[in-house]
This record gives sequence, C-alpha cells and structure tokens, in this order.
Amino acid sequence: MAKLATVLSSPMPPRSRPIATEPHLRIHVVAEREEAERALASQIAALVVERAARGEHAILGLATGGTPVGVYAELVRLHRAGELDFARVETFNLDEYEGLAADHPASFRRFMHETLFARVNLPAGAIHFPPADLEPRALERACSAYEEAIRAAGGIDLQLLGLGRNGHLAFNEPGSARESRTRRVELHPATREDVAPIFAAHRSAPTHAVTMGLATILEARALRVLAFGASKAAIVRRALREPIGPELPASYLRTHPDVEVWLDRAAAAETGQ
Ligand code: PGA
Repeated sequence: MAKLATVLSSPMPPRSRPIATEPHLRIHVVAEREEAERALASQIAALVVERAARGEHAILGLATGGTPVGVYAELVRLHRAGELDFARVETFNLDEYEGLAADHPASFRRFMHETLFARVNLPAGAIHFPPADLEPRALERACSAYEEAIRAAGGIDLQLLGLGRNGHLAFNEPGSARESRTRRVELHPATREDVAPIFAAHRSAPTHAVTMGLATILEARALRVLAFGASKAAIVRRALREPIGPELPASYLRTHPDVEVWLDRAAAAETGQ
C-alpha cells in the first residue's frame, strides 16, 4: 500500500508540465483532453496489474458526468486489447440521484453500466453505488453500510473526480462539512440548473441525491481530478487559489497527500499558468 504513489506514476510520462503549487498537489495542463484520459487510464491499468500480481483487488472510486467519459472509453479500449482484466477490480461510485430506478436513463447506475460496466469483465458483485431509493431510516443504515463496505474492501485506492461549477465534489454542495460521510443531500440550485437538460425529457428532475461525504472522498489513497473546457476555468481557479473551507468543497482537494489535477488549456486559463 505504501508504494501507491510509485505504482500510480504513469508508465509513459505525459508531455504535460506539472505546475508546483502546494507540495502534494500536482497539476498537469494538457493540450488535448485525450492526453489526460490516456494518462489516467494507464495509471488505473498499472494499479490493477500491480494489485492482481499480489493476488489483491484494485479498489476504484468512480465518478459520473461528462468529464470522465474519455477515461472510461480508454479503459474499455485497453480491456478489448487484452491489456486490462477487471476480474480483480471493485468499484464504488461517488453518488446517485434520489428516487430514480437503476435503469432510469438519467441514473448514474445506468450511465456507468453503458459507459463502462457492460463493456468490461467486472464481476456484478464488485460494483457498488450509494443507496438512493430507500425510506429515511433504511437509507441512513444503508449509508453507514456503504462506508463500511468501502472500509471492508480496504479503502479506495484511486478516486476519479470531476469538478462542479459551484465547487461541489460529488454531491457535496457548498456548505458541506469536511467530516461529512455518505448521506442524503439536497441539490444546490446551480447543480439543478446544470443537470436540468438531462432531465428535460422526463417529468421531473430530482431535488436530492445520496453522496459519499468529503471525509469519505479524502480517505481515498489517491485522488485524480479532471476538468476540461472553458466552463470549468473559474472553478478550477477558485479550487486551487481560494481559501480552503466548506463553502468551496473542491478546495479540500488541496489538503490531500496524493492528488493530481488534469486540465486542458481552457480549464487552466484562469490559473495564471
Ligand atoms: P460534469 O460534472 O463532468 O458533467 O461536468 C462534474 C461535476 O458536477 O462534478
């Protein structure tokens, strides 16, 4: 476990230039997002191979949204090329909307199924999502069980993350405590606005979700954050430069001992790099 940083260094160093900001924060600005996607997929592949060689599972924390799709496409490509076996992989997703059936077109379970799970040999029992369709008391117990399942798996080796434009991390919206754990949350108006197009064809959009907490996320041994496009430039600057605190959950990334932030030039435009 202690050698994780070594294991995760890309087999082929990316052409991007790491920018020094804070000691444990490595920021890579790439010309094309595909470079970041390939680098992260190869980190994941290296982790899986290294764990499997020791007879162990690799525990991945996965994110949904437009940001990580290219990483998943690259993982599928590696799998189809015979270079990546998911038999010893276990996954924990960050979050899920409340009240959606697993096969709802906008559910994160369906997104993951279509983008990755149905395309690789990940055993069905190895896939975990936060509980999202239970009555309050059962939900609370299931949230604790989700935390326990992560612990029982040995903790998350590598957590993929996108950045919400309002600074949320998973669905930890502004105001979320550093100590927060997996729980039911109300979606911030800005988040509801961002996801509205996805639900436009349906009767109503969810107002709540269940998300891993900030403490849960920050316990992952490695955080790998992606942000692409001009719409992320302001939040990237804020997350990297503004004071660390609950009003800006993404700022807590800077407190983690092993975090890489992968940006294209548009997303990095306001960082002064
Ligand atoms: P996106 O969402 O990848 O769809 O931009 C990121 C997020 O809200 O965390």
